[in-house]
Amino acid sequence: MRILITGGAGFIGSRIALTFADLRGIQVTVLDNLKRRGSEFNLSALRAAGIEFVHGDIRLAGDLDALSHNYDLMIEASAEPSVAAGHTGSPAYVIATNLGGTVHCLEFARKRAARFLFLSTSRVYSIASLREIKLEETPSRFEIAREQTLPGISAEGIREDFPTNKARSFYGTTKLASEMLIQEYVESYGLEALINRCGVIAGPGQFGKADQGVFTMWIACHHFGIPLKYTGFGGTGKQVRDLLHPADLVNLVQKQVAHGRKWEGQIFNVGGGRAISVSMVEMTDACRNITGREVPVEGTGETAPYDIPLYLTDHSNVSEWYDWIPRKSIVNILSECAVWIRAHEQVLKPLFCQTLSSQTPVVT
Ligand SMILES: NC(=O)c1ccc[n+]([C@@H]2O[C@H](COP(=O)([O-])OP(=O)(O)OC[C@H]3O[C@@H](n4cnc5c(N)ncnc54)[C@H](O)[C@@H]3O)[C@@H](O)[C@H]2O)c1
Repeated sequence: MRILITGGAGFIGSRIALTFADLRGIQVTVLDNLKRRGSEFNLSALRAAGIEFVHGDIRLAGDLDALSHNYDLMIEASAEPSVAAGHTGSPAYVIATNLGGTVHCLEFARKRAARFLFLSTSRVYSIASLREIKLEETPSRFEIAREQTLPGISAEGIREDFPTNKARSFYGTTKLASEMLIQEYVESYGLEALINRCGVIAGPGQFGKADQGVFTMWIACHHFGIPLKYTGFGGTGKQVRDLLHPADLVNLVQKQVAHGRKWEGQIFNVGGGRAISVSMVEMTDACRNITGREVPVEGTGETAPYDIPLYLTDHSNVSEWYDWIPRKSIVNILSECAVWIRAHEQVLKPLFCQTLSSQTPVVT
């Protein structure tokens, strides 16, 4: 089997690439424009695993057309993955990559008859609706209240039928528009496709920034002694997210690829779920325990327009289909991040410290 992974030098793409390349009879090609700072560090591991690397850009259809092989499977893992993208500057890059680029990928998959796996996001759900979820407050976090008026929400979290009909950020909207186009390709051309709407993914190998990968960044700040801020919703640090370790996502992707059921554009919410969730206050405690270091954390009330108080994935649908359950706990995820940061301190220090000392992190 031949697999093409766009964005395959990134945090998730490289993890998927290395896992598949390790299996007998599978050849992997990675295409990436190395826009994400840090992705270049993954190239040596990819090459050592026998993975072909192509420096290319999905905004340019010709970069894809120039690939000489046909592929059985294409995994679209490239993106501008920040929910803040286009918020203060032009949205041109996020639209050209996340929407225009996906169309080029779909055309490539159609012409080369490849199956298509798309990494979408929980950010397709409307920000206004996510903020309408009724919450209760405990000393350390927001919790989902028992009574809700919106569809698609239960004590477990957000299901696939949660509203998507209002603004979602440029990031979320380009991903939702891509999902819709994927379904048109399934309907019109019989493209075999699956869509994984992922919540927050965090773990070793993620080059966290103030506006994306905030959980990896949080532990890096503890390690390197950089002060932090709780922003938004009163600055109390009670925002909650569930986290998914990339190994758990890769395990799901393997099951999806191996599964006999036809890919018909099905959409799945994928995430760690309530059992693997954390608030920022709880996160600070965990980082202090794991690193043995404390940094000052002050609170500011200012709420970014795309921030939401809580996101928990109800992954029951995907769990049932694929007999899949995320296994790595919050402590596993953060401990592995700490080990990774310690082992690569020289390389990671300038990367984390330069971006973080000048920006206020926002929970995305
Ligand atoms: N990390 C998360 O928490 C998370 C959550 C939900 C969904 N996702 C989705 O998963 C996918 C992978 O995310 P990630 O966390 O690995 O991000 P990442 O930034 O680490 O990886 C994305 C890769 O795409 C490359 N890229 C960007 N623009 C490109 C272009 N125009 N052409 C070719 N390559 C380009 C980057 O250089 C990078 O290597 C994305 O689609 C993202 O939206 C990620």
